[in-house]
Amino acid sequence: MAASPLPASPVAATPAPASTHGGRDAFASNLGAFAATVGSAIGLGNIWKFPYLTGSNGGAAFVLTYLLAVALVGLPVMTVEHVIGRRMRLDAVRAYGRLIPGKPYWSCIGWVGLASAVLIMAFYTDVAGWVFAYVFKSVTAYASGSALTPDTFGALAGGTWEPLCWQVAVLVLTTGIIAAGVSKGIEKVTKTLMPLLFILLIACDIRALTLPGASGGVAYLFKPDLSKLTGTVLLSALGLAFFKLSLGMGTMTTYGSYLPDQTRIVPNAARVALADTLVSLLAGLAIFPAVFAFGGKPAGGPGLLFNTIPLVFSKMPMGGLFTALFFLLAAIATIGAMVSLVEVPVAWIVEKGHAKRPVAAVVTGCGMFALGVLATLSQSPVLADVKVFGKTFFDLFDFLSSNVFLPVGGLAIALVGGWLVSRKAFVDEMNKGHTTERWHGRTVYWFIRFVAPGLILLILLNSLGVIRLA
Ligand code: TRP
Repeated sequence: MAASPLPASPVAATPAPASTHGGRDAFASNLGAFAATVGSAIGLGNIWKFPYLTGSNGGAAFVLTYLLAVALVGLPVMTVEHVIGRRMRLDAVRAYGRLIPGKPYWSCIGWVGLASAVLIMAFYTDVAGWVFAYVFKSVTAYASGSALTPDTFGALAGGTWEPLCWQVAVLVLTTGIIAAGVSKGIEKVTKTLMPLLFILLIACDIRALTLPGASGGVAYLFKPDLSKLTGTVLLSALGLAFFKLSLGMGTMTTYGSYLPDQTRIVPNAARVALADTLVSLLAGLAIFPAVFAFGGKPAGGPGLLFNTIPLVFSKMPMGGLFTALFFLLAAIATIGAMVSLVEVPVAWIVEKGHAKRPVAAVVTGCGMFALGVLATLSQSPVLADVKVFGKTFFDLFDFLSSNVFLPVGGLAIALVGGWLVSRKAFVDEMNKGHTTERWHGRTVYWFIRFVAPGLILLILLNSLGVIRLA
């Protein structure tokens, strides 16, 4: 296989002012780049999906596999996406299409990415709608002196018009932020509010961990029982690592295209992965001790977050207010993640179709809503009985995106970055502006070539039954 050099960055010949690249918006600083990337990574994946999957996959063995997947696969793939994104400074479809001269068909990575973005948003906006609804419901419950119960969640998720209205509200808000522009929209929201979410999660943890019986939850999260490792557990953990870090579909490539030149890619990506993982673990530590203390079921399914958090806070003075604040911050974190999902198709429509951002945002939002209706109604009597491959639309979109599209996309990205681009060009972009190559760059490069693609392939083959790992 002949390794090709990366084509020269389109902006190399004409130096642009500090925060724009050939007219593209860019994050203004290293901190801004970190905050925005974290803003994409942190979202429902941490507070909703991580606890729910941990609970339904048997606990610590899943957590351990997930942590390994983040380090061995997630970090290398994020590095490739950032390198390619920054080098090409294009939307994901054109970045992969023009990366290897004479091989435009690699744009398929970007195409699959566009499809994944729409699939993910279809169920993501449904869950985000629940979060927004919970902000509202916890405030009204507090004002009227009542409490949120599992029935509250059942009625909401199983309804028809109510979840649909919330979903539309979420989509309108997200596309509005997108229409306003990259640096102005994304950076400000995420930079200011992430630390608050972090503090509130820690408050939640302290409350949950000091409940009588909390230790069962801690053991559930951290004492692995390796006999629980199955093919499903491996695939779900890998899929979650991709989903959590927004990898495998071009989000991080698009974000890479906004990274400033002076950002060293590997340390930035490592900090993002660490921060994101920490938030997931903090969410787990808020939820499982409480589940055990109150005698709930860890395998509570998608409603786990919504049924547990109000319980945790109900044992605190002003618990109702804290519940509202928690869901408000969760909603804000979710916006950052959704903005990054919508950004992929929007960047493509704007640059390829020469459309204005607001127009592109509206078109994208409508497409997402069309599929989103299916996901949302599949929890209500309207579509609950419609199954494709034995799954409701909600589960199908979730499964297809996290467990098929993202890992396959990630595999292709790792192979392109590790084998089709020359080592020199890759490493130069990775360390741009720094003369030395550091150990972490060398190590991650080795992971990109061998470890990440090898593991993804093994796990996919295992779940197809071609080989037997677990
Ligand atoms: N990482 C986000 C979360 O955890 C979701 C997300 C945003 C995402 N952009 C993505 C997932 C791109 C996959 C691909 O909530």
